[in-house]
Order: sequence, then structure tokens, then C-alpha cells
Amino acid sequence: CGIVGYLGHRSALDVVLQGLGRLEYRGYDSAGIALLDGDGSLAVQRSAGALSNLEQRVAEDGREHFVGTGGMGHTRWATHGAPTDRNAHPHRDSTGKVAVVHNGIIENFAELRAELENDGIELSSDTDSEVVAHLVGRAYAAGPAAGDLTAALGIVAARLSGAFTLVVTHADQHDKIVAARRSSPLVVGVGEGETFVASDVAAFIEHTRNAVELGQDQLVTITRDGYLVTDFAGTEVETRPFSVDWDLSAAEKGGHDYFMLKEIEEQPEALSNTLRGHFADGGVVLDEQRISEQDLRDINKVFVVACGTAYHSGLLAKYAIEHWCRIPVEVELASEFRYRDPVLGRDTLVVAISQSGETADTLEAVRHARTQHARVLAISNTNGSQIPRESDAVLYTHAGPEIGVAATKTFLAQIAANYLVGLALAQARGTKYTDELEHEFAELAAMPDAVRSVLETVPQVRELATRMCDAKAVLFLGRHVGYPVALEGALKLKELAYMHAEGFAAGELKHGPIALIEDGLPVVVQMPSLKGHSQLHAKLLSNIREIQARGARTIVIAEEGDEAVRPFADELIEIPAVPTLLQPLVSTVPLQVLAAEIARHRGYDVDKPRNLAKSVTVE
Ligand code: G6P
Repeated sequence: CGIVGYLGHRSALDVVLQGLGRLEYRGYDSAGIALLDGDGSLAVQRSAGALSNLEQRVAEDGREHFVGTGGMGHTRWATHGAPTDRNAHPHRDSTGKVAVVHNGIIENFAELRAELENDGIELSSDTDSEVVAHLVGRAYAAGPAAGDLTAALGIVAARLSGAFTLVVTHADQHDKIVAARRSSPLVVGVGEGETFVASDVAAFIEHTRNAVELGQDQLVTITRDGYLVTDFAGTEVETRPFSVDWDLSAAEKGGHDYFMLKEIEEQPEALSNTLRGHFADGGVVLDEQRISEQDLRDINKVFVVACGTAYHSGLLAKYAIEHWCRIPVEVELASEFRYRDPVLGRDTLVVAISQSGETADTLEAVRHARTQHARVLAISNTNGSQIPRESDAVLYTHAGPEIGVAATKTFLAQIAANYLVGLALAQARGTKYTDELEHEFAELAAMPDAVRSVLETVPQVRELATRMCDAKAVLFLGRHVGYPVALEGALKLKELAYMHAEGFAAGELKHGPIALIEDGLPVVVQMPSLKGHSQLHAKLLSNIREIQARGARTIVIAEEGDEAVRPFADELIEIPAVPTLLQPLVSTVPLQVLAAEIARHRGYDVDKPRNLAKSVTVE
């Protein structure tokens, strides 16, 4: 979910709605606002569906009902309770004076709900979040925190288990908004005579770049003139102010039909920015490094944990790390990792890959690894987010903000970051000489240009997409590094175009999936590099023949100059020849465009696919 709170001198309605617009990538099942109008009441409106539905309701009510320069809003990705009006946030207590918005899951909500119901309080939604409104209302009404909204939220937050960002307003407190966080993100924006709280700086980037990050189990009270951060018990704590280093244009479409296409086109820069500064004096430079040289040398096993697209980048890390470092690497879905009790110890390195740095599944995998004394290295695109904070070493991808829910430029940046981690390990273990490391890095550094040239295929792929919109299903095949790319191509198509799509290791096809091939079924095939993998190339040619013989329509992605594959390609998309391990950086690009454009032709919102959210802060 996305959360924004504001106290300042502008119309809170405008600031909050605009902020929610920038946070919609976090969820768009429903949206709502609560504004402090200054005369002791709250102006609340909520609506199921996208933010535009809420905006329409506000327009129907009339803007004059939403005056005031303070308030908050929420855009929801449903967990407890269907995405309906009544489950939309903000939730209020029985007096109607306390309003709460929440991101995360309150795990002990059933017990808290029962406690409230025992006391005769009727809840009006199916959410876990509503209990917080009632509990804060009670703590504010009587007891040690009476009349003190910050203390009331502190008492309640300490009773909650699970993950949460909470923002609370009280109708009688129009100069104050209080927020709390545990495991879910929360940043404060500090402007001139105005202060913001939000899930992400994108919500206030047009007003201020001065931000403060909240730590675990902290509360913040904002006023128009500033903020105070404390722990749940009210003791002031030190904060980490930072300045946002990207500007508004990064969060706007800039003439593109949709964000995802813009982000696909930004991939060369995303790659250059990720590589920049991470290699100097013949070695890899991490952003944070709290693992000793000796410990790094002693690593004898690597686990990569991640979800979704980040997991696919992790699958690619295995090829590079094993090849360069001769250490066994296992790649695991973060949601599965801790529950199967993996064998971990001091000699294990867990590489946690997460664009957002806040995915709950990955965060919990990191926590588990740490309890087992493994070293954790995080790869993330979000400075200061929770996963890097809880890791022993960090490498940030500098892909810039990614608004499209489906990952594109951050995927390429993650692949590059994985390779840097591979080189860092090779360096620490002495499995590569400095000149070899320099050579590998130089090859990586040439990739932004290669990606630039593959972007020239965009018009061809857009046109191809118009002819594929009606396909019943699409299969993706690849071998070696082409296999994770096939998985990613299929995931993109599922996510965006809601089409049945599967990625297979091409060699495995004959062991089962070939039964799916029927007349006209589109099959997208990644050809291995000719020079780097001539043996595999020959094997894939046979695989293509097998499917073509059974009626498949072959869409082949192959290196420029790969004449051997031409006779078997119903459609041929040519990509530049690059070293084998780096091929995914170019071969993924046409698949991203294909999925986005098929989705667009089918009339779907490319940037906001149904049922998904960009960062999933629940397990
Ligand atoms: C969500 C998104 C995916 C993303 C995954 C992991 O499910 O919809 O696009 O790949 O989370 O996100 P992370 O921020 O951890 O990389």
C-alpha cells in the first residue's frame, strides 16, 4: 500500500491526491483520504478501485467539502478484506475523530478485534487495520496517553505484531499528524513551513528533496514546522536526514505512452549508473561493507534469495559466480527459503536481491539467514531501505525510480550488480587476477551501448505484438543463461497481458512440455551466442526443428549474423553479439517490449497490472 500525510500551507486535498498518484504503483485496489479541516472534524472519502474513482467521488461531493491544509491518504493493495468501499482506508474509530491508514499486516488483529468486540465496539470493515483506529481512540480518550496522540499511537504500536506503517490523525489535533513504522517503509519530507510523511519520497518530490528515514519501531510526529522522532515509548532518537538525488522528471512519463516503455528505454543509463563507481583500482567497490576480508575469503557457499523478477536475476548470478569463483551457488525463492531450514553458517553468503528493499518474503529470508550466522549481502535499488539496513554488505543499483509495476530497468541493473558481486568474490578468493577482473569489468562496461543498440528493435517488436495479441498462450525457450531469460519473458507476459505463458529450459521440452505444442502456438526462442556456445547453439537448432515440425510459430531472438537459424525463424529479432554471460542484458529487452505492447493492444493498463503491487510488504 501507499501512504501519504501532509501538514503545511497548501491545499491538503491537492497535495495528498498528487502524492497518492505517485504511490499508486504500491497498490490500486482502493483509495481514500481524510483531511483535517481545522474546525474539529475530518473530511473523509474512500472508494474501491483506482485513485481516479476516488477523485471522481471528491469531485461529486464538491471540493468545498475538502478544505484545509492537513490530511492524509492511502492507496491499497488488499490483504485482509476484499477491495471494497467499506474496506478502503482511512478507517475511523467509533467517535469518528480518529482516522488511520495502514500498510502491512497486523498479525495479532484477531485477538485485538475480539478484545474490542468484547467491549461492545462494532467494527465496520473486514480489515486488520481498523482495530488500530479503535485502539488509538481509546488510548487517546483515557489513561496515561489521554489527549496525547503521539503517546496513544506509541502504546498501541507496541501492542501490534506484524509489519506496519501507520499514519494517524485526530479531528481535534489539526496541527499534528503521527506515524509509526515497523518493517514497512516510512519517510518524512521536510519543506518550508510544510512537512510530509510517505511510503516513498516520490510522494513529495515536487515539494522537497530533504528527507528523513525512520528506523525500525519508531514514531514520528509532524507539525507544519518540523518533526520529532521517538521510539514507541516516547524517547527521542537520532535520525538520518538525506537528500533525494533524483528529480521529478524521473517520476514522470516524459512523452512516453506509459512508464514501462520509458523505463525500458532508460536501461542503458540504468546500467551505466549501476556500474559507475563500483569498480576502481582493479577491484569491486561495494556501497557498504561490514564483512571482513578474511570472512569473505572463507565463504564456501552462496545462496541467492529473491522474488519475482529479482529471482530471475538471481538465477543468472549462479552462472557467473560459479564460473568465476568456483563456489556452489543455490538460488531460492525468498518465500520458500527459511521454511525448509536451509544449511547455513558463518561460511555462507546470502545474497538478497530486492529492487524495493522492502519485500517481506526477502526481508524474512535475510533475518533467518542472520540468525543462522550467515553473512548477508543486499542488492537493492532503494537507498536505506530495510533489507540493506539489515545486511552486512550492500550494493545499490542506481537504476533510478521505477514506476511501472513490472520490473524492467531494475532487472538489468540487478544482473549487472550480481556480476559485480561475483567479481568481488572472485577477487576476495583470488580465483581471478586483477587483469582478468579488469577485463570482465570492461566487458560489462560496454553493455550500455549494446542495450542502446538492441533498443532499435523496439519498432519491430511493437509491430510483432500487434500480431500476437490473440494468441491463447506463448511459450519461451532458452538454455544456459537463456533459460532465466525465458522465465522472465513468460513472467512479463503473465503479469502484463494476463496470458498463459511458460518459460522452459529448451532441452527439457522433449521431456514433457512439447505436448503443449500445437498448430500456430507462438514459441519465443533465445538462441545462445554462436561463438561463446557453439555446442549449445547446435542443440537449440535441433530443439527449434522439433517444435516447428509440430506446428509452432517460432519467434527467434538471435545474434546478428546468426545465419544458421534463419530458415527456422518465422520471426527473427536480431540482437548484438556479446559475451555469453552478458547476453541476458540484451536478449531480455525485446521480451519486455513484447509483453508491454501485447498488454497495451489488449487494452490493459501496462503500468498497473491487475492484482499486483510493486512492493509487497506482506509474506
Ligand atoms: C512484486 C513485484 C515484482 C517484483 C517482486 C520483487 O511481486 O510485482 O515485479 O519482481 O515483487 O520485488 P523486489 O522489490 O523485492 O525486487
